[in-house]
Amino acid sequence: MTDKDFQGLTRSIERILGIQCGCYKEDYIKRRVLSRMRITGKENYKDYTTYFLSTESEKDLLRNALTINVTKFYRDKEVFDLVKTNIIPDILRKKGRIRIWSAGCATGEEPYTLSIIINDILRLKSDLQITIFATDIDREALNKAKDGIYDKRSLENLSEGQIKRHFNQRDDGKFEVKPHLKEMIKFSQHDLMSQKAVTNYLDIILCRNVTIYFTEKQKNDLARMFHPALLPNGFYIMGKTEFMSREVENLYEPYNALQKIYTKK
Ligand SMILES: C[S@@+](CC[C@H](N)C(=O)[O-])C[C@H]1O[C@@H](n2cnc3c(N)ncnc32)[C@H](O)[C@@H]1O
Repeated sequence: MTDKDFQGLTRSIERILGIQCGCYKEDYIKRRVLSRMRITGKENYKDYTTYFLSTESEKDLLRNALTINVTKFYRDKEVFDLVKTNIIPDILRKKGRIRIWSAGCATGEEPYTLSIIINDILRLKSDLQITIFATDIDREALNKAKDGIYDKRSLENLSEGQIKRHFNQRDDGKFEVKPHLKEMIKFSQHDLMSQKAVTNYLDIILCRNVTIYFTEKQKNDLARMFHPALLPNGFYIMGKTEFMSREVENLYEPYNALQKIYTKK
């Protein structure tokens, strides 16, 4: 396994899958590739590259392995703009507390985005009870989420003001989420296939870009599991490329169909 062979593979990944390997830590790419090598019985990068180039199904499988935890701050700006300008102010007009579940939170950018939005809305009003439950099945991703340490490139969707208010720059140049954001979030491991909600009385559930490996039945079961966990008129926010199937659309009504935001019927 030479570095030259590994570099050759990353060039093929970039050319064929359009994934820029330079955006990730080399260790991360290596771990995911090694896992595919183990599964496919390839013993070195050269053999794996040949297999990857000649096998269509492996291209999809490696893409999935590489993007499984991919997320970012303000992923889909239009969605979070609606959360900021309409959804959260509407909830706060009616009561003094908000409970949100970020289901499948990966490395934390989604729950921290919510925390930033809420902080920016509230500024000095600290008498409100805000809880964001952030869960994922992947322990490694969750540990990164709890640490809340990101490199500058990850923060590109945030304004300079938001970075200053909500992050401390560390000696190694990275940025660490400030305690006032972390305090709002309860991270825990949770399997969405378990059919149990992590909590109830929720105002908003975000479950975005999580269900790519789920069958239709598992996706529908998920929508059915979220329904009783939401408060009346609570919001269910899906990923932009995900769909509410006919079988469960009796449970929710569109709030903004384009942005895949629904409310509980
Ligand atoms: C692509 S990330 C999405 C992160 C974030 N929601 C976003 O939209 O940017 C998908 C996450 O779903 C998690 N996931 C996949 N299957 C899951 C399951 N059964 N239960 C909980 N989390 C799951 C993965 O571990 C991964 O971190």
